[in-house]
Amino acid sequence: MKTILITGGAGFIGSHVVRRFVKKYPDYRIINLDKLTYAGNLANLKDIENEPNYEFVKADIVDAGQMNELFQKYDIDGVIHLAAESHVDRSISNPMEFIFTNIVGTVNLLNAARISWKEKMEHKRFYHISTDEVYGSLGETGIFTETTGYDPRSPYSASKASSDHLVRAYFHTYKLPIVISNCSNNYGSFQFPEKLIPLSINNIKNNKPIPIYGKGENIRDWLFVQDHAAAIDLIFHEGKQGETYNIGGNNEWTNISLIQELCKIMDRKLNRPGGTSAQLITFVKDRAGHDLRYAIDSSKLQDELGWKPSLQFEEGLEKTVDWYLANEEWMNNITSGDYQKYYESQYGKR
Ligand code: NAD
Ligand code: TYD
Repeated sequence: MKTILITGGAGFIGSHVVRRFVKKYPDYRIINLDKLTYAGNLANLKDIENEPNYEFVKADIVDAGQMNELFQKYDIDGVIHLAAESHVDRSISNPMEFIFTNIVGTVNLLNAARISWKEKMEHKRFYHISTDEVYGSLGETGIFTETTGYDPRSPYSASKASSDHLVRAYFHTYKLPIVISNCSNNYGSFQFPEKLIPLSINNIKNNKPIPIYGKGENIRDWLFVQDHAAAIDLIFHEGKQGETYNIGGNNEWTNISLIQELCKIMDRKLNRPGGTSAQLITFVKDRAGHDLRYAIDSSKLQDELGWKPSLQFEEGLEKTVDWYLANEEWMNNITSGDYQKYYESQYGKR
C-alpha cells in the first residue's frame, strides 16, 4: 500500500484530486492535509469522507514541527502539494499570508520530505502544483512554454514563483525527486466564489452586478478542473523526475466574452428572457498590475504523456453552471458570514 500526502485537499482543485485518487486507487492511502482556511471546505469531500483509504489531517504547512511529525508518523511515499493562498486580489491586500504559506510552507514540506526520505529517495515523489502566472503577462501574441523565463507580477505569482525555484533547488542540491506542473486558470465545481466564474454565477442568480475589472479585455486560458486532476494523476505517476510540465486548455477568452457566454447560459437555465443577465455586467476599477494575457503551450505534456483536455469550454461551462445551480446549499453556506465582509471590502456595498 502506498501512502500519498495531498496538501490543500479541501480546496477547489485539491478536492478533485483527492476524490480522483481515493476512488481510482483503493490500494493507496490518501492523507488530505489542510488548514481549512476560508478557502478550505470539508463539504467538498462529503461523498468520499468515509472511504477506508481516506484520512483527513488538519494542520498548517507553515508549522515546521507539525510537518516533521507528520512525516514521522506516516511512511509517506509521495506528496502532491496544492496547499496555497491562491487568490490574486487577496495577495494584493494581504501579501504576507502568501509569503508564509506559499514560500515558507512549501520549504517546510521540502525539508520534512528530505529528512524523512534521506536514505530512501529512490521510489519517492514530491509533486509541486504551480501556476502559469509565474511566467508573467503576455502581449497580444506569444505563449508560455516550460522554458519561458519567470516574470511574476503579483504577490501571489511571485510567491508561487519563489516556491517553484525552491522546489527545483531541492532537486539539484539534495536530489529530492521532484516534479512540477504549471497550469492555467481552472473552472468547475467547488470553486470558491471569489474567483471570476463562480462569483459571476452567484451574482447573476441573485440579480447582483457582475464586476468586470477595467474593460474586460484581459485574457485567460481556461481549463476544466477535472482535466487538471487527470493531468496531475498522469504527471504524478509518469512525469520525469526534475521536469516541469505546462498544463492548459488551449482555450483563450477575454473576460468580457467569457461573461457574455456565461450570461447566455444563465438566461437559458433560469428561464429568463435573452439579454437579462448581461444587463448585470458592471465595469469596475481595474486590478492593480492586472496581467493582460496568459496562454499556455501544453504540447510537452500532450506529446510525452498523452494528456489532452476532454471538454470543449462551452460544454464545461454549462456543466459548471448546472452544478452551482444544483448545489445552492453549498454556495449559501459559503457566502454567508465572512464572505460578505470580503465582498464589501473588495467591491464596496451593493
Ligand atoms: P484554493 O484556495 O481553493 O485551495 C487552497 C487550499 O489550501 C485550501 O483548502 C486551504 O485551506 C489550504 N491551505 C491554505 N493555506 C494552508 C496552510 N498554511 N496549510 C495547510 N493548508 C492550507 O486553491 P485552488 O484554486 O484549489 O489551487 C490549488 C493549487 O493549485 C494552488 O497551489 C494554486 O496555486 C494552484 N493553481 C490554481 C489554479 C486555479 O485556477 N485555481 C491554476 C493553477 C494552479
Ligand atoms: P480570477 O478568477 O481571480 O483568476 P486569476 O486572477 O488568477 O486569473 O480572475 C480571472 C480574470 O477575471 C482576471 O483577469 C481578473 C478578472 N476578474 C474580474 O474582472 N472581476 C472579478 O470580480 C474577478 C474576481 C476577476
